[in-house]
Amino acid sequence: MKFHYPELLHGGDYNPEQWMEQKDTIWKQDMQYAREAGINTLSIGIFSWAYLEPEDGVYDFSWMDEVMDNLAANGIKAVLATPSGARPAWMARKYPSVLRVTENRLNNVFGGRHNACYSSPDYERKVTEINTRLAERYKDHPALLMWHVSNEYNNDCHCPRCQERFRDWCRARYGTIENLNRAWWNSFWSHKYSCFEEIISPSSLGEEENVAHLLAWRRFSSDNLVRFFQTEIAPLRRITPDVPVTTNLMNTFSGLDYYALGRAMDVSSWDNYPDWRGDERDLKTARISAFHHDLMRGVGDQKPFLMMESSPSSVNWHTINPLRKPGTILYQGLQAIAHGSDSVQYFQFRAGRGGSEQYHGAVIDRTGTNRTRTFREVAEVGATLKQLKGVAGSETRNQIALLYDWHVRWAVEGAWMLHRHHERYVETVRDFHIELGRLGYGVDMVDELSDISGYKVLIAPMAYIMRPGFGEKLKAFVENGGTLITTYVSGYVNDELLTYMDADPSPINEIAGRHVDECDALDDRTFAHFVWNGKKYRVKEVAELSTLTTAQTLAVYADRFYATKPCFTVNGYGMGRCYYIAVRTDEDFLNDALRYILNEANLQPILPKLPEGTWATERYQEDGTRFVFVQNGTHEKKTVMLPKAMKDAVTGKMVYEQLEMGELSVAVLMDE
Ligand code: GAL
Repeated sequence: MKFHYPELLHGGDYNPEQWMEQKDTIWKQDMQYAREAGINTLSIGIFSWAYLEPEDGVYDFSWMDEVMDNLAANGIKAVLATPSGARPAWMARKYPSVLRVTENRLNNVFGGRHNACYSSPDYERKVTEINTRLAERYKDHPALLMWHVSNEYNNDCHCPRCQERFRDWCRARYGTIENLNRAWWNSFWSHKYSCFEEIISPSSLGEEENVAHLLAWRRFSSDNLVRFFQTEIAPLRRITPDVPVTTNLMNTFSGLDYYALGRAMDVSSWDNYPDWRGDERDLKTARISAFHHDLMRGVGDQKPFLMMESSPSSVNWHTINPLRKPGTILYQGLQAIAHGSDSVQYFQFRAGRGGSEQYHGAVIDRTGTNRTRTFREVAEVGATLKQLKGVAGSETRNQIALLYDWHVRWAVEGAWMLHRHHERYVETVRDFHIELGRLGYGVDMVDELSDISGYKVLIAPMAYIMRPGFGEKLKAFVENGGTLITTYVSGYVNDELLTYMDADPSPINEIAGRHVDECDALDDRTFAHFVWNGKKYRVKEVAELSTLTTAQTLAVYADRFYATKPCFTVNGYGMGRCYYIAVRTDEDFLNDALRYILNEANLQPILPKLPEGTWATERYQEDGTRFVFVQNGTHEKKTVMLPKAMKDAVTGKMVYEQLEMGELSVAVLMDE
């Protein structure tokens, strides 16, 4: 199901249950302020369980009825949550199995929020009961827009039920214990199991060094959570089949394969909390956010996503929580839209008077009024989003895909090699993303299971592990004319983390026309160099030494004992090509190499010659209407040269050739 609403959403998390005793004043004022701020959606019920079910089996929806009616009466849509992000105290007392057990086998006690065991039958039953009641009660309510399932699902549990499920997961994956022993290389340290019953979860109290065991546990925990999500949404799907379902994600959070979760929901949504500082550091922050937005869109199969949360002012949980310079909130919101979001939503609409989030930014902050800078800035976002209504539902049409895969990350970060605990997978992928932006290209994030056949270029940095079918997919992609760019530490191991050997070569070897003999880890005082197209580049951290089979050399090392060995190669394969970058370099080489390769692949940037610190993205409506978003991520003014006159979609004015941009800003342009 594709989520579609005819307007861009503007709103945020709303917790009226914190103001139950001030219904007549505060609740009324909330609606008035929401209208003033151009808010058309509010997310409710996220942490309301104790108010919806004050005692086991005793429900009270009367207050939520009132809230839903208020929203409808004010033309505001409800993103209605299931309350499983936090539990009432009575539940923990009556059904202790709902709480997690730590990896050191300690039982958690009541408190906090994301503290649930996703294998607890009691929890499943209670969640199913309340979700069923919510869906039954509000299925025909005019305010109901979509389901916000739980909140920021995360982490694992080591209770006996989870252990049993892990063993079942292993049985299903490996069939026999011999297969598992072979796959996990359990002849090492005499760790051979004689039956599945001997398998337990990784822990610092016992086994925590077997990389395959660790990966299996991460995969199981992720699968178990996706299964729990399916359980959570079963009553919603049954009772409200036409209401889209989402759950809010946390960008590169490592504990859960977001692509797997994304495939189970209708629209991807996420919580965006950049560390804005109001100076030149914001450029890096803006680039990281751009990467996160694209990743969260990728998780949702490139459909429009939602920025479910962001702070309308400062946050309260960074180490330092500075105020936002005027204009930052508008930039933060429009940046999300530029990368494919159909919403700008905040945490939170109204700040509570107590609790740990009393000082977190809010549309209505602790003054309780609309007479604040934050409120005015939020209202400005609201007015701008109204002007951009036509963007709602539009999608990207990028020709470049960039691989970011949770299994690759788990495998790389678990491996004992090179720079232990500093493999820098996320940063490496991000570095490619940044350079693509610098060069003016839009990019789609994909994982190894995504359909890549429609892209012209696939960039797969550090694609360490080959998940089933990925090697064949890569071969078909390049054979059919695609350009593959891959790097050091790619295709080292199969899906079970067993290294490929000459007798059983990595699929990457054939496509890249080379194989890796050795890989060097350089410390921060050791560098190598190479020259390409007359320019000298520095090699840092990782340097692979390889033998070429069919590949051609583009550059060789200039120094160290690897001098004259190839470090940048290209291989013709079928109708396509595979470029192999065997070294970690600085951004200058990535930029030059990408410019060269994308030019060879005949790909045109969205806008050429963008000034430093600016980048462009595009969204298209089905009828071909195109929106070009130009971002200035710096605190300096920038002039962007346009190849033709375009219309500013916010002001309706024409922009001729020169687009003048203020600091930290987004221009939305349309073809005329
Ligand atoms: C999010 C969370 C919200 C709120 C917010 C504060 O991670 O989903 O409930 O705590 O952080 O920034």
